[in-house]
This record gives sequence, C-alpha cells and structure tokens, in this order.
Amino acid sequence: MRTFEPSDTLKRLPEQFFARLAKQVQDLAAEGHDLINLGQGNPDLPTPEHIVSELQEAAENPLYHKYSPFTGHRFLKEAIAAFYKQEYDVDVDPETEVAVLFGAKTGLVEISECLLNPGDLALLPDPGYPDYMSGIALANARTSFMPLLEENRFLPDYKSINKNTLDEAKLLFLNYPNNPTSAVADASFFDQTVALGKKHDICVVHDFAYGAIGFDGEKPRSFLQSEGAKDVGVEMYTLSKTYNMAGWRVGFAVGNPSVIKSLNLIQDHRYVSLFGAVQQAAAKALTGDQSAVRDLVETYEHRRNVLIPALNDIGWKVPESKGTFFAWLPVPEGYTSEAFAELLLDRAHVVTAPGNGFGECGEGYLRVGLLASEERLLEAVRRIDDLKLFD
Ligand SMILES: Cc1ncc(COP(=O)(O)O)c(C=O)c1O
Repeated sequence: MRTFEPSDTLKRLPEQFFARLAKQVQDLAAEGHDLINLGQGNPDLPTPEHIVSELQEAAENPLYHKYSPFTGHRFLKEAIAAFYKQEYDVDVDPETEVAVLFGAKTGLVEISECLLNPGDLALLPDPGYPDYMSGIALANARTSFMPLLEENRFLPDYKSINKNTLDEAKLLFLNYPNNPTSAVADASFFDQTVALGKKHDICVVHDFAYGAIGFDGEKPRSFLQSEGAKDVGVEMYTLSKTYNMAGWRVGFAVGNPSVIKSLNLIQDHRYVSLFGAVQQAAAKALTGDQSAVRDLVETYEHRRNVLIPALNDIGWKVPESKGTFFAWLPVPEGYTSEAFAELLLDRAHVVTAPGNGFGECGEGYLRVGLLASEERLLEAVRRIDDLKLFD
C-alpha cells in the first residue's frame, strides 16, 4: 500500500495531548476495571425531551430533506437574536450579526483562518482550550500566551503584555466561564478588553461555551453586554453544554458584522449548513422553556457542593468552582500534574485531566469534570482517601 504524505499544513497541527490519556483509559476499561472518568468534558445527561421531540417531528418535514440555505435558516438566526435579547438584553441583527456553526469548535478553529495571514500574531490564554491552537496552526500564524494565574483570578493581566506584542496582535481569544480553571469574568474585565481591542486594533473572540453555567446565583456575563464589544469582536456560543446537545453539533457566532461575513464565507466553501430539522430543534431549545437549563445548573452546583467539601475533608485543600462543569484542583506538593493524574488513574481508577495539557501555566493542577452522579463523585473521593496521600 502506498503512503501519501500529509500536507505541510497538516503537519503543523499540534499533537492532541489528551489522545494518550484516552488510550490509557480505554485499555484499563477493556481490562474490566471500574473507572470513574472525570477527565473529559462530555456532558453526562441527555438532551431535554421537548428538544428531542421537536427533532423527531421536524425530521419528517420534506423541506428539510433538501439542502439547507447556506448560512442557515432565517428562523434559527431569528431565534438566536431573540435568545441574546432575552438572556443578555443584547441586540443582534439576525442577518448580518449571526453565523450558524457546526458547534463552537468549528468557528473557533475557522476564525484564525478567516482573520490571520501567515506569520500574524494571536493572543491565547494559558491554560486554555487546545483547539484555538489548531486554527492558528492551520493559518500558519504565531501565538503569544497570556498566563491565567490564580492571583489574578485566572484573568489575563493586560498590563503585563508588552506594547509591541499588543501592537502586533490581530486576534485575542478569551473564554469565561473558563475551561479549564472554572473562573468567571466580570463587567470591568470585559470593558477593559473592549478598550484594549480598540486601542490596539485587535479582534476579540470570546468563547462563551459555558455561558449558561454560573454558580451561587451569578449569571455569567456575555462579552457583548459591554459597550462597544460588537465593534471589536464576536462571541461564540454552543448548545452543547446549555442543553446537553454536544452530539448534535450546533453553535453560533454573534457580533461584529465583518467577522460574521468572513465566517459565513469560509463556511459557504466548506459546507452546506446543518440539517434543517436540527436547526428547527435548536430554535426550539433557544426560544422554548428554559427550566431544564436551570435544573442542569442546579445539578452541577449540587455536584460541586458535594465534591469540593469531600475533598477538603480528606485533606486535599481545593477551591470552589465559580462556573462551568469543571473543578480546577491544585496537585499536592511533590507531584507534577501528569504524575498525580497517573497515580489517581493507576491506583484509584479515577480519571482526571492533567493541567499541563492545557498549557504550561496549567502545570500544578488537575481538571476534574462534575460529570458523574454525586454517588460516583463521592466514590472517587473515597478511593483517593484510601491512598492515604494527605495524612
Ligand atoms: C471552552 C470550550 N469551547 C468550545 C467547546 C466546543 O464546543 P462545541 O461542542 O460547540 O464544539 C468546548 C467543548 O468542550 C469547550 O470546552
């Protein structure tokens, strides 16, 4: 069999750090071990029933058996605009300020291809969601990392970035509520971000994947709620987490019309838009009853309220998450992230994600998903306690 060499573009793609972990987990599961997998970001609960029913009904509509309009059905774009108005009191024009995406991941990768020329500079959070780097590699652009440190509440410190870097940068990625640190951002931080974007002519991309998941009664802010935000950027939203629809692949970008136009252009060349029935069900999710979202946030908050005190009780001192469905746990002294994750995997069969997989500044932490029942989370803590690491 001949082997065809992948292109230079593909060779530039970063290695998928978590692929090795996934393989280890698969091997242990195949050996029959009872693993508690808290290492991934895959919601564990099903899509609310009314959304599934809408899809079932819509699937029978012959209109949807044809190609969808290239930039998505008008009704979905209107539903997105209505959702932003209702949730955030933000006005977006459905035709010029909304791009329908096959999940936020697609848009987060494409935006670099849309806006960066080879050699251009993008600012990225460290630690951060690894897929931002995939788009930057495809665009053959460069990165400069912004450390997210505990002493700054895991927000980038813009004052510490040197002026040349800011002048050179064309794109800035942010993500709050934050994966992996579970931190949230406030209005003043987003206002500063708008000012920074304006001053240095940087396009801001705010990844709002966990927009629905804030704890202790705090509703996470949309970047677009800051005055002037649309002038300097876009926000990416996904139905994956808000409605447990990760498998459905529905997301969207809202904001600056010139960026939306570029996203729609690249998509025009790559795909025809999502299956119409999926679009109809997505519109139902966004504009229908939101009580399932409130229940989901409550579920994650309960899980957090079970896990964090239980870990503290066994002597592992860890802080409370403010949002997302993750907890960001400092590893005990004397271990690296990978060594500690390996120990928990081998000896407790508890899977966690080592923080260094999200960037250098993630070293010293583990990311744990609140994506198992309270009983399983407590079982994980019991198993860790049995290792007698914190006596
Ligand atoms: C921070 C962040 N952004 C984006 C995504 C991608 O979401 P989607 O399912 O819409 O592609 C994820 C998924 O895990 C995420 O954690």
